[in-house]
Amino acid sequence: MLRVAIVGCGVISTRKYIPILKRLKKRVTIVGICDLNEEILKQVSTKFGIPEAYTDFSRMLEEQHPEVVVVCTPPAAHTKVVIEALEKGAHVLVEKPMALTSVDCQKMVDASNQHGRKLGVMHNQVFNPAFEEACDLVAKGEIGKFLGMRTFLMTPVDDMTSNPKHWAHRLPGGVLGETGPHAIYLSLALLDNVTDVQVCWKKQLPEYPWSAAEDIRFDVIADNGINSVTLMYGSNQSGAEIEIVGTEGMLKLDLQSRILVHHNRQVGTELLTPKAIITSVVSGLYQTGTAFAVNGVVHRVWKTLDGHYIGITRFLDYVEKNAQFRASGEKGKLTTEVLDMVVRKYEESQRPAASSAIGQG
Ligand SMILES: NC(=O)c1ccc[n+]([C@@H]2O[C@H](COP(=O)([O-])OP(=O)(O)OC[C@H]3O[C@@H](n4cnc5c(N)ncnc54)[C@H](O)[C@@H]3O)[C@@H](O)[C@H]2O)c1
Repeated sequence: MLRVAIVGCGVISTRKYIPILKRLKKRVTIVGICDLNEEILKQVSTKFGIPEAYTDFSRMLEEQHPEVVVVCTPPAAHTKVVIEALEKGAHVLVEKPMALTSVDCQKMVDASNQHGRKLGVMHNQVFNPAFEEACDLVAKGEIGKFLGMRTFLMTPVDDMTSNPKHWAHRLPGGVLGETGPHAIYLSLALLDNVTDVQVCWKKQLPEYPWSAAEDIRFDVIADNGINSVTLMYGSNQSGAEIEIVGTEGMLKLDLQSRILVHHNRQVGTELLTPKAIITSVVSGLYQTGTAFAVNGVVHRVWKTLDGHYIGITRFLDYVEKNAQFRASGEKGKLTTEVLDMVVRKYEESQRPAASSAIGQG
């Protein structure tokens, strides 16, 4: 039984980690939780029945000797707690973004190597079953030669945009620094060697002056293709969709329903016919219906489709069995480096365009 401690008891901790780790009670036991905010700590301790609650992280490590520490603090606090946990002999799973700078990421990787402890970054969407299946299909050549992809992530306005006190507004790039990492690590799962990025954005909701833009678009340009990313922050809607295109086909993914559709509207030398459209729509509906039914049963009975659930169990396998883990510290560092390229272009483009509603970089 692995002894696990959690630092940071906010949204992600209470919605994902604590419930998931409690479900994994045959593998892990939660030996302590830590948060600087006493009120939050007390609430979480009572709600989840975890009496070992600390405001002092070092004390928790010294008294509980966790074998694994899960880091769910805001990004600016990751580096210090990750390094201390590694130094005290724990394996560490840290939420994305791994850190705010590549230098800090490297410090974590070095500490992991120096102390012989494992380090993983929660890139939860790479563990999304639909995305994993898509990566397998691409690797097997099912859509021919990979040509590129498009990623659309929509964060509801009240998650961050409407709240001036949310820490995301103080990250490099603001809210881009919070959801951008998802788009980057998804890009890096399929793109080889990122060489450049292009950014444009639009400020749309003047009622939130602390938010620099509610529509941010960027292209991640690599040797084998481009990921065109759209991040929307101004709607009351939520969404996470990806399209992956190859010479012989196209995959459409809804990461939230975990449905993957193998889109096929092959035309050849003919004009696009109604028959081709009908066939492709019917096929899409059939694939969606089948996946929906299977996912519905799996989700209801086993609740094992969640990217965090899969990521956590894979990290435990990595710790206990030295199994492969695709969200390593090195991947976290690379994600931070590419995000930094995007943020720099985004912020540069805001300077001359400060008086305009449209920006481009
Ligand atoms: N993978 C995802 O889908 C996903 C979703 C949401 C958040 N996240 C990530 O999870 C992390 C936390 O986000 P959140 O939304 O839960 O934030 P949050 O603000 O809801 O919670 C963070 C908690 O950490 C506490 N804290 C801050 N500094 C601390 C320190 N030094 N020691 C102990 N506690 C400290 C705060 O008091 C707060 O309760 C971030 O890195 C964020 O990017 C990931």
